[in-house]
Amino acid sequence: MTRLAVVVHSDSGTTRTLAEAVREGAASVEGIEATLHEVDRKRIVEGRFEDEALLEALDAVDAIVFGCPTFMGSMSGPMKALLDATLQRWYGRVWSGKVAAGFTVSSTPSGDKLSALNGLMMNAMQHGMVWVGLDQSPLNADHLNRLGFYVGAAAQPDYSAGAAAGEPPPLMPGDRETGVVHGARVARIAHALATNPAAG
Ligand SMILES: Cc1cc2nc3c(=O)[nH]c(=O)nc-3n(C[C@H](O)[C@H](O)[C@H](O)COP(=O)(O)O)c2cc1C
Repeated sequence: MTRLAVVVHSDSGTTRTLAEAVREGAASVEGIEATLHEVDRKRIVEGRFEDEALLEALDAVDAIVFGCPTFMGSMSGPMKALLDATLQRWYGRVWSGKVAAGFTVSSTPSGDKLSALNGLMMNAMQHGMVWVGLDQSPLNADHLNRLGFYVGAAAQPDYSAGAAAGEPPPLMPGDRETGVVHGARVARIAHALATNPAAG
């Protein structure tokens, strides 16, 4: 089996909705085992992310899809704390050759989401990971990639849809499905590389 992990930070749940969609898309690919992991901001102690079990779970997979909300025009603080905690892995080139991808959610259509996605990609590049973008034209009737991002999947909550009590608002039409498409593509590429390591 090719192992893919979706690792997400989400405070109010909308990015978790997209993470579940990405995981669902990945799991739909034959030969893929896809898991979902949460970045818990309570594991940040004196500014440092301390969750070795999560990092070891990420060490063990072939592909990692990073997701977080866009906060103040960049990736969220807890996701940055997780990535800063990977320094020892960077020294050891532990994540080199793994497939990587990303996704983000923010309130407005742009909201500077691209900056968050670029930050996730830059971390992956530093590790020598193989970044997979979103291969989805926005020219379709199903609203797939309606926001026109290609570095990763981007979504926006639909605040007008009316959420159930205690539930986050749903994503705008097409955004969840965009996550499914993205997860499936990342999984297909991860599986192709894992079963033909010479290609990587
Ligand atoms: C500290 C903070 C900063 C934010 N900055 C932005 C931003 O730069 N652009 C934007 O469109 N939305 C911004 N938002 C809105 C969040 O991205 C949005 O509520 C998102 O759905 C939250 O994700 P979550 O439900 O997974 O926690 C911000 C929210 C917070 C709390």
